[in-house]
Amino acid sequence: MAVEVREQVVEAAPAYDVARVRDDFAIFEQKIHGNPLVFLDSAASAQKPRQVIEALRHCYEEEYANIHRGVYYLSERATEAFEAARVKVQRFLNAGEAREIVFVRGGTEGINLVASSYGRAHLGPGDEIILSHMEHHSNIVPWQILRAEKGVVLRVAPIDDDGNFLLDEFEKLLNPRTRLVAITHASNALGTIVPVKEVVKRAHAYGVKVLVDGCQAVVHMPVDVQDIDCDFYVFSGHKLYGPTGIGVLYGKAQLLESMPPYQGGGEMIRSVTFAATEYNVIPHKFEAGTPHIAGAIGLGAAIDYVSELGLDRIGAHEQSLLAYATERIGEFNSVRMYGSAKHKASILSFTIEGVHPHDAGTILDRQGIAVRAGHHCAQPVMERFGIAATVRASFGLYNTVEDVDALAAGVATTLDIFG
Ligand code: ALA
Repeated sequence: MAVEVREQVVEAAPAYDVARVRDDFAIFEQKIHGNPLVFLDSAASAQKPRQVIEALRHCYEEEYANIHRGVYYLSERATEAFEAARVKVQRFLNAGEAREIVFVRGGTEGINLVASSYGRAHLGPGDEIILSHMEHHSNIVPWQILRAEKGVVLRVAPIDDDGNFLLDEFEKLLNPRTRLVAITHASNALGTIVPVKEVVKRAHAYGVKVLVDGCQAVVHMPVDVQDIDCDFYVFSGHKLYGPTGIGVLYGKAQLLESMPPYQGGGEMIRSVTFAATEYNVIPHKFEAGTPHIAGAIGLGAAIDYVSELGLDRIGAHEQSLLAYATERIGEFNSVRMYGSAKHKASILSFTIEGVHPHDAGTILDRQGIAVRAGHHCAQPVMERFGIAATVRASFGLYNTVEDVDALAAGVATTLDIFG
């Protein structure tokens, strides 16, 4: 009986058809230096499916006007589409309310908004902020700017040699002066997935707020901000197969309401006189100026796209590629991999003995293989491992086993050239 039930479940879930998925991405129709494109840099920015491009075309050709301002038909349609995108984001993150979703330019702006607004309003000299050792520069520098202005103190939670986040070591940093934890959900350089729910639980026990940088997480797994119970969550649209220049800051309504505006201008006001201004309600209070209307609508289309495929299934597909790539690239004696955390996203960072990562990246490019080579905007974690740079292959929903084979062949060629 049990076997029968299992068989039925397997039948109900269709296999992940990566060939069909790739048909949605016109970019794979071209050749790069005479070779098929092997795109292994989705962690930097992902390619866009036709559905997202079509949503942008539709917006600009059929329902474009400025939003929240016009009393005419097109403006009302554009406003509806923009606000519908906000609701899609709300559901995507399982946020309690649509007004908790603020559209920003990207994850970077989301963090800067919190540092600037929440930080300036609620943090003062000696207040402590905990980061992890594997933060992207975008989750370090805004806090350093705040430190220069307000005298806050930055503390760094350590990782081990495999790149695992050390929860207990993190907890030891929590103390009565701690005011905020700003932490990545998944490291862009190592792939490490941080147990953010547990981080939040321990931080909240001290009354400490938590901001999670989800740029590298939302693309690989379902995220539920109410379950995590984080206070802020940010991500970028362009890594989620959506347009550039659009991103999201989720914040608990009460917190967003307690924060002063980040920028002043149109849309974020209720009324203005030369004497005083009354601010708009959230989220509009944080959306000064004409927003990236088409970008938000395109992000909504990207969310529809990944949701239809299923984040669980996308993640499982990418995990199988990661396992295969780890095995194939691990076969080279002169390759050293960085980041073998127990829970990691589909990111493979490595160096090749005697070969500068930029040279390896250039040789791979000649074979049509796009990887990122460098410090990945995460210099402190590079320093932690005593290196300046790695080659990074990151796998997205359109990558294949053949892509991994091409990468392995490319590494072999690199070694031949440098042999
Ligand atoms: N943060 C992006 C990356 O990891 C740009 O490549």
